[in-house]
Amino acid sequence: MISAIDILRLTELLPELPKERTRLLDNLGRVRREVGPLTPELSDALADHMNIRRGEVHEVISFYSFLQAPVEAVRVCIGPVCDCLGAKELLAQETERGRVANGVPVLGVECLGHCDLAPVLTRGDRIEPEVVHRANEGPPRTSASATRRWPTTSAAAAWRCFVHCPRRRRSSRS
Ligand code: FES
Repeated sequence: MISAIDILRLTELLPELPKERTRLLDNLGRVRREVGPLTPELSDALADHMNIRRGEVHEVISFYSFLQAPVEAVRVCIGPVCDCLGAKELLAQETERGRVANGVPVLGVECLGHCDLAPVLTRGDRIEPEVVHRANEGPPRTSASATRRWPTTSAAAAWRCFVHCPRRRRSSRS
């Protein structure tokens, strides 16, 4: 159900949104940030504005599940690499922290695409640990990564961790 406030915000926002199909994800992000989590009604309104089949837009939203979460939500990755490196403990800590902070929603989500920083979360739209890009210094590093559990932060290291993860081995045996 879409509220009257959401309708007003959406009515103001829609004329600003480009109609090219390639801008769908950008537009979904803007609607989420400026109106609220993507409900079926918001999704349909955007689909009609962009002249895209409503079902297609629903598929995109269900694939990118964060679009249905409030902007301020904390999303903890529980994908395989993060799981091996402590995602369950991180999720428990954040859930407790969210409860204390007056109910900030905390969600466990699949791979956030930053396996080299595992375990990783997003607080609002910010990734933690923070990604620091420096020219000519190899793959992205975090400010804390040098002292964390991995000697190097790279996708290859993430993969090695995943392959040798004791938790994964235990669960595949049972
Ligand atoms: S498994 Fe957590 S970011 Fe990929």
